[in-house]
Amino acid sequence: MVKNVRDLKLKGKKVLIRVDFNVPVKDGKITNDNRIVAAIPTIKHVSEEGGKVVLFSHLGRIKTEEDKLTKTLKPVGERLSQLLDREVKFVAATRGETLENAIEELKEGEVLLFENTRFEKGETKNDPELGKYWSSLGDIYINDAFGTAHRAHASNVGIAQNLESASGFLLEKEIKFIGGAVSNPESPLVAILGGAKVSDKIGVIENLIEKADKILIGGGMMFTFLKALGKNIGKSLVEEDKVELAKSLLEKAGDKLILPVDTVAAKEFKNDTDFKVVPVDKIGDDEMGLDIGLDSIKLFTKELEGANTVIWNGPMGVFEMENFAKGTIGVCEAIAKLKGATTIIGGGDSAAAAIQLGYADKFTHISTGGGASLEYLEGKVLPGIACLDR
Ligand code: 3PG
Repeated sequence: MVKNVRDLKLKGKKVLIRVDFNVPVKDGKITNDNRIVAAIPTIKHVSEEGGKVVLFSHLGRIKTEEDKLTKTLKPVGERLSQLLDREVKFVAATRGETLENAIEELKEGEVLLFENTRFEKGETKNDPELGKYWSSLGDIYINDAFGTAHRAHASNVGIAQNLESASGFLLEKEIKFIGGAVSNPESPLVAILGGAKVSDKIGVIENLIEKADKILIGGGMMFTFLKALGKNIGKSLVEEDKVELAKSLLEKAGDKLILPVDTVAAKEFKNDTDFKVVPVDKIGDDEMGLDIGLDSIKLFTKELEGANTVIWNGPMGVFEMENFAKGTIGVCEAIAKLKGATTIIGGGDSAAAAIQLGYADKFTHISTGGGASLEYLEGKVLPGIACLDR
């Protein structure tokens, strides 16, 4: 068991908390603050227990000096301050005297956020000097950055090597639900996988073939499977170089793997166009499937009945366009109706879809991870979790 923040004495300690505040920012405005909201319980707990909170996060990927102009965490600090309803001191530095003095001056319960960890070149290389330096700024290290747990960087793994460490409440929840669903699920386990590309989900499908009772496939990736079955998929999205692999996954999975029986077909990739529901073997040469159809929703709903654990990753169609969102809504509704089941959304687009469509409170857990949830669902050990004290 990973040690948790609730097990530690925090009063008067400088508590370094790695969070994942890698949120979308447009023109200096945060367009989705879910990851900030998800980190609040740990920050509040440390502050209320009298810890001095020092927050670390990256934002985006820094390739050039110009990137630093748009990838500052300053707006994140402002949003966090609103959400906490208290001052958040923002330090526009990643090392040096200003930062060190600001941390030394913190009073019990106060919160400080410093600048994007990726402004330091050594961050993504897990430079031991940087990990050591950052760890010297505090007494205890808490990792609550599940979204970054698949990376071995200085601000998560590097620091943990030098300090007493534990998980925050968010990381603990992700380990319990995403980790639990793949390592020790209550069966029957039904997985629903969608999204555009098979290539993103190969590892997940391979791992879940062993563990799940059923795997329901929707989204753009269904067409690579349909092509593998010899069907005409018209102009639908396909990964030609993955058709053979899809064939072998279909063979391996047998009747565990269930494909849609119909699709919403259109001639153009836009919302404002004619569309019709057709069986998957009746897609015209000039048509593309942009969602699963009503019979597929019914089929998936039936397959979900009686499930005790459900993992969902990837939308069923182009849910951003109203005319092609019904499949994703249908799956949200089918999962929401399940009584007593543990229902988990594995982050990314499906999490965004469920939240945008108003189903957020209908699930047991919505992961804050993108790549991290996928790697966790693949059964991989995540370095940001493995490095923490047991
Ligand atoms: C994410 O959004 O998946 C995490 O914050 C990790 O970001 P990265 O893919 O740039 O390492």
